[in-house]
Amino acid sequence: MLSSLLPIAALVVPAFAVVQPSNTTILGQYGHVPPVYPSPNATGVGGWEGAIVKARAFVSQMTLEEKADMVTGTPGPCVGNIVPILRLGFSGLCLQDGPLSIRVADYASVFPAGVSTAATFDRDLIYQRGVAMGAEFRGKGSHVALTPVASPMGRSAYAGRNWEGFSPDPYLTGVCMAESIEGIQSVGVQATAKHWVANEQETQRNPSYEADGTLIQESVSSNVDDRTMHELYMWPFANAVKSGVSSVMCSYNRINGSYACENSKSQNGLLKGELGFQGYSMSDWGGVHSGLSSIEGGLDMNMPGGIGLYGMTWGHSYFGGNVTLAVNNGSLDLSRVDDMITRIMTPYYFLGQDVGFPEIDPSGADLNTFSPKSTWLTDDFVLNGRRSRDVRADHGELIRQIGAESTVLLKNLNNTLPLKAPTSIAVFGNDAGPDTQGFYNQVDFEYGTLSSGGGSGTGRLTYLVTPLEAINAKAQIDGALVQQFLNNTLIATSDVSTLVIPTPPDVCLVFVKTWAEEAKDRQSLDLDWDGNSVVESVAAYCANTVVVTHSSGINNLPFANHPNVTAILAAHYSGQESGNSIVDVLYGAVNPSAKLPYTIALEDDDYNGLPTTSVESSDPDAWQANFDEKLEIDYRYFDAKNMSVLYEFGFGLSYSTFELASLKISKAVESIPAVADFQPTAPGGNPALWDTLYTVNATVTNTGDVSGATVPQLYVTIPGPVGTPPKQLRGFEKVFLEAGASSEVQFSLMRRDLSYWDVILQEWAVPEGNFTFAVGFSSRDIKLSASLAVL
Ligand code: NOJ
Repeated sequence: MLSSLLPIAALVVPAFAVVQPSNTTILGQYGHVPPVYPSPNATGVGGWEGAIVKARAFVSQMTLEEKADMVTGTPGPCVGNIVPILRLGFSGLCLQDGPLSIRVADYASVFPAGVSTAATFDRDLIYQRGVAMGAEFRGKGSHVALTPVASPMGRSAYAGRNWEGFSPDPYLTGVCMAESIEGIQSVGVQATAKHWVANEQETQRNPSYEADGTLIQESVSSNVDDRTMHELYMWPFANAVKSGVSSVMCSYNRINGSYACENSKSQNGLLKGELGFQGYSMSDWGGVHSGLSSIEGGLDMNMPGGIGLYGMTWGHSYFGGNVTLAVNNGSLDLSRVDDMITRIMTPYYFLGQDVGFPEIDPSGADLNTFSPKSTWLTDDFVLNGRRSRDVRADHGELIRQIGAESTVLLKNLNNTLPLKAPTSIAVFGNDAGPDTQGFYNQVDFEYGTLSSGGGSGTGRLTYLVTPLEAINAKAQIDGALVQQFLNNTLIATSDVSTLVIPTPPDVCLVFVKTWAEEAKDRQSLDLDWDGNSVVESVAAYCANTVVVTHSSGINNLPFANHPNVTAILAAHYSGQESGNSIVDVLYGAVNPSAKLPYTIALEDDDYNGLPTTSVESSDPDAWQANFDEKLEIDYRYFDAKNMSVLYEFGFGLSYSTFELASLKISKAVESIPAVADFQPTAPGGNPALWDTLYTVNATVTNTGDVSGATVPQLYVTIPGPVGTPPKQLRGFEKVFLEAGASSEVQFSLMRRDLSYWDVILQEWAVPEGNFTFAVGFSSRDIKLSASLAVL
């Protein structure tokens, strides 16, 4: 996180570089950002009507100075802090990262990452993870959890933070956002949907400065057309707002040329206007580059408040005293400030945080290197709570389960898995064993298994069950022999037959990994530490080589078709129970049911949507990322271009087999106007967008001889205008079935699911023509389909 505030001194240009030539027409086809003012006032519509009354009553008692404090973060015990107002009995707000753990804490759990969570395709598990995480934030006295992540969504395979979010598919990410938010907020903790919006690369995410603070170049601008913004990048945030998310964090990047945190179109127009968001827009840390413009542009809370933009000195703030000044000199209307605070306090009251909320755990303050006590500007943070509270409860069991149920079985030749009581096992790879650089990992360490990526999205482990440890434990019960080889260089450069005794082992388990972190995009899709050569070297000798990747996301897997590589498991970042989770899958205690939440292409060169990695110009405005691929990211692109892939979106094997039958499509309403009748906006946008227009049913049967779960998926072909993707995920359901059992699944299709964004009408519209409804087990394994006009 610290790195997020530092200038990017030198940019390493990777092989896949997208270089913006100096003559790039900035914005070009994207036009300009239309001004949208004033910032809409919250009304509390959608369930917060009672809470907003309390918030307004609170605001009415505040002085102007208190109001300025309330919208401006300050150094304190948490990563973000709003100062207490003791006179009004307000204890302040404690904001903590992050997406897989309460990061700045002791005795807290490290959960599976977002990408793992998405791979479960299991709504209930995603919700339960939210509840458990929320309970840990609450237990530590953190009012606001800086999670979940819908941006980056995964436009680029290389983006450094894709693992914090869920999937490049907006529908899947939208479901993950909704379930996570509802889970977190069910225990009275505010969730923050971040980073709004089109925050799809790390390179030049912040402006660059000379040492004296002179601007060199502005942040990268994500240039997105209106339709793509709605159908891809806004989509999961609409789910978040519909679920009542308390805050939305604006991103570092510019959007169509204007900084996200002062962009009136994105904040006033899209978020508060079109989506009817009733909570507050909070800045990313150091993402504010103006005072009045940001406030008028819709920003409600400046985080972390006052900070030097290119150093770590607290002090300067665009908000704080400048808010007071602007109100006093008449340039800022007090009513706008009142709305900012009303938006901040409404979810606080709605979630009951004014009554009995736990005090901040003082140990968090000690661990907080971002604003250590020496930087605090007030004595009002009184930390009387019990120190080092253990908030982990029994969450390890859920973490183990999610870890196993998010492990995607990509290959399983001759049913090599589950393992059949092997008596001789060889374990290879530097990802198998204990972490040698401590439990708060922020670097790409050589030795040790990866359970998380780095940056503000990481967690502080309290324990870590490694694959090696879990395999040894199982082998001890079975009386099996385990040999270990953890040095990748040794393995990659050796004749493996000379290492293993006796030969051959029943199975060679190879653990390989890929690191990714905030503030950096990935340089390559290879496994780290020469992992691809490690696999080749083991497979050259061992006829039963099983590969497990602990990875931030997409790898190229050049060994996928090697005949000796009998199985491949993508285990992503599975959290503190990593070893137990993988052993559960390897030995069949859990039948794998996870699905790839992205596509693995045949070749590295096949991917589009690459990050902009350098510019050939000293123009301050030179950093541009033109989202020219529009709606064609991930499977939408490979389908549109009719390209073969290695493993497609939605793919994942099981130890059982499943079939689908009896497709039924039913209209759920009498008549369907192409554009919904006007209704007053509520959180999530026009309420009619969430009305079910059709249902699709199918029967799924477990035709194998082991019980297990599978995920029927519904893809819809919308006869929309040019550029409409060939098919789009519009439903999925995880179903557990005993061997031989059947069950009927039902997918509800809402108006939004059947619409495209009409840029002329500025409305979602259901097109005329034939739709295709296709149900299958992946985006390319369609079992049933039917076509009909829906209007
Ligand atoms: C910057 C990151 O982009 C954001 O996700 C995080 O919540 C803040 N830093 C606070 O650490």
